[in-house]
Amino acid sequence: MLLKRGAEAELRRVEWHGRPAVEKVRVPKAYRHETLDEQLRKVRLRTEARLMSEARSLGLRVPILYDIDLTGNRLVMEFLEGASAKDLLQQGRGGPAPLAREIGELAGTLHANGIVHGDLTTSNMIVHDHRLYLIDFSMGEKTDSVEAKGVDLRLLKEAWMSAHFVLEGLFESEVLAGYREKNPGATDVIAKLAEIEARGRYT
Ligand SMILES: Nc1ncnc2c1ncn2[C@@H]1O[C@H](COP(=O)(O)OP(=O)(O)O)[C@@H](O)[C@H]1O
Ligand SMILES: [Mg+2]
Repeated sequence: MLLKRGAEAELRRVEWHGRPAVEKVRVPKAYRHETLDEQLRKVRLRTEARLMSEARSLGLRVPILYDIDLTGNRLVMEFLEGASAKDLLQQGRGGPAPLAREIGELAGTLHANGIVHGDLTTSNMIVHDHRLYLIDFSMGEKTDSVEAKGVDLRLLKEAWMSAHFVLEGLFESEVLAGYREKNPGATDVIAKLAEIEARGRYT
């Protein structure tokens, strides 16, 4: 069953040795140079697999990786039954404040350990078994750059303010509070976020 056909990847609900699984296949981009495209897809796939395992080793919840197939540009991972954090927050279910806090803690733990996610939005978070999971690391990178972390937070904030404007106040009071709790370098990153926002306003 097709779950999603995106610009970069197709996702299907499959079985992996009897377990509910998701297959994520990176699809070629017609407008990109063929060998370059092939290389880029492999880099993204490797990045995704590596960052998933690093995040897991930090104690964060991510899907279990069942298989990585570089020839077929394919990952097979655990299927997480549940709703996205985006849907839960929009429906006002699941206690928005604790969920917002947990999202901030998740981002803080990632950044404190040198992982930038690259697409940090509530669509890429799934609440499975009452726990928050992070997915879709394909745009991520390992870096200590405050700028890169600021850009990551900026995306989270933008996505939050557009999808969860009713919960606008929770971004500061819960998301950023959770972030500060987990990331000792939070002050610099949050200052960078403000700087990036100001840049956006005046240019
Ligand atoms: N492990 C998973 N379990 C359940 N659903 C998933 C899983 N991985 C992805 N999905 C679903 O497929 C969608 C797209 O997957 P994602 O990895 O975010 O790819 P894309 O890069 O296209 O955004 C997700 O938003 C989610 O709905
Ligand atoms: Mg996604």
